[in-house]
Amino acid sequence: MNLKKEFIDFFVSKGHVAIPSAPLIPENDPSVLFNTAGMQPLIPYLMGKEHPEGKRLCDYQKCVRLTDLDSIGDKTHHTFFEMLGNWSLGDYFKEESINYSFEFLTKVLHIPLERLAVTVFAGTDKVPRDEVSAHIWESLGLKKERIAYLGEEDNFWIAGETGPCGGDTEIFYFRSDDPIPDKFDPKDNRWVEIWNNVFMEFNKDSAGNITELPKKNVDTGMGLERVVAVLEGVTDNYQTSIWHDIMAKIEELSHKSYEGNEQSMRIIADHVRTSVFISADYAGIVPSNTDQGYILRRLIRRAIRHAKKLEIDMNSPWLEEVAEVVIQKYANDYPEIKANHERVINVLKEERIKFNHTLEKGLKEFSRVINNLNTKTIDATQAFRLYDTYGFPIELTIEMAKEKGIDVDVEGFQAKFKAHQELSRTASAGKFKGGLASTGEKETMYHTATHLLNAALKIVVGPDVHQKGSNITSERMRFDFSCDHKLSDEEKARVEEIVNNWIKEDLPVTMTTMPKTEAVKSGAEAMFIEKYADIVNVYSIGTVSKEICGGPHVSHTGELGKFKIIKEEASSAGVRRIKAVLE
Ligand code: ALA
Repeated sequence: MNLKKEFIDFFVSKGHVAIPSAPLIPENDPSVLFNTAGMQPLIPYLMGKEHPEGKRLCDYQKCVRLTDLDSIGDKTHHTFFEMLGNWSLGDYFKEESINYSFEFLTKVLHIPLERLAVTVFAGTDKVPRDEVSAHIWESLGLKKERIAYLGEEDNFWIAGETGPCGGDTEIFYFRSDDPIPDKFDPKDNRWVEIWNNVFMEFNKDSAGNITELPKKNVDTGMGLERVVAVLEGVTDNYQTSIWHDIMAKIEELSHKSYEGNEQSMRIIADHVRTSVFISADYAGIVPSNTDQGYILRRLIRRAIRHAKKLEIDMNSPWLEEVAEVVIQKYANDYPEIKANHERVINVLKEERIKFNHTLEKGLKEFSRVINNLNTKTIDATQAFRLYDTYGFPIELTIEMAKEKGIDVDVEGFQAKFKAHQELSRTASAGKFKGGLASTGEKETMYHTATHLLNAALKIVVGPDVHQKGSNITSERMRFDFSCDHKLSDEEKARVEEIVNNWIKEDLPVTMTTMPKTEAVKSGAEAMFIEKYADIVNVYSIGTVSKEICGGPHVSHTGELGKFKIIKEEASSAGVRRIKAVLE
């Protein structure tokens, strides 16, 4: 069974519009490194903005969660996963939502009622106990003993610290051959959560105040990997059909079987899959020492270290071979995987070769350090040398030390790291703890400037220039574009001049909504057409720029100040990168 297809078909039959997965790397939201839930790209709409596709939506969304990074290697955790979701934006609420979930689980997936149990929100002094949901579940045949009331800790959902939120009802499946107990005990881990229906009625601000949203919404999320494991009757997520070909490849390359080598094989499989998705995403991420690039580097290097443990031939293109299997598996569901196939393989290959150069010596250095230790701790200087000279991410050193029962002076390492790096990784580490900032004023300005820069480059360099990626913080914009040469000083000056003239002209920024095909016909620029839904927003700036885009933008270019290019450099083959500021 193709679960994604069944899910989408079901919700489309219930009047939902299937929207494409949003990028893994959020656009214009520097507060998070990756999308962590299906609802994340929909926040503006949950907050009240009208969605161009209507009030009922469904999708499968690419997600990366880093909180469980250290747990990868066990049976159930993944860094990348796909989340199936359906949404009501101020349309239906508890009654239909629960009915839809129940119908999908029992009629489409044929899960027997006696294997199901639910939790509902027990309420707080401000929000009442959710008897409504409990009653709906009972009316569907669920016994009272199979409904557990849980408090804020368990049954109130919010992504991070602020934003849309509400009580939820979570659906559990009894995954065991044991007799099914009459009474549902949510602490009994034979019951596994498979679906979460959040009734998003509130917004939480940074001061902790909870206010009602303009509309009552439904946000649901079902982890694909887990449900497939349930349906295929396995307790090890990595033994489902999702992983079959990937594991077979790792077994072939290592001449070892999965049994007995589970941990390293799961780490390799998980990390290579996530690395493929990160490097295929629209932002054009490559391994680096900051932000998403650092995560990518960490994942690849950890996978390489486990491949070495399995005695895979380090000089062979094993990493690219595993990645090829991942790409084949997902290319049809995610157009960017197909389109960026070559780039992904090159990114992985380069990083593999780079780390291969120092891995062997680094491992020797690590053994030397361990053998000469007087204490049970690797000190900051030693950890920093492993990082700086041998390219060992600190997390890798920690993991290897832990295997030997040894600690690492992480704080000391961070202090050294900070002293050596202008951009500290610890600053960005805070970003994936959660917390969804709305797009700030400065980011909005940079976003509009991105469109102007794109248009100016087409004039100066040529009409074949296209956006390949962008990344915005409140301090600067970064813009990647297709171009086969280094820009000359004249070209850069000309681009600046054109953008600044448009700013001076105070051009109006306007938005219209139209079908995607019409937008393309009208000549609207789109970075990557497949990622947009059928109905799109098109932003025009005077008559100089027209792009398919989610916004937000300033209303007039006069708000932007002075545009200045601070750097122009190569990004990857055939792609240049401009960093610019608004002063
Ligand atoms: N947003 C909810 C979750 O991620 C559905 O569990």
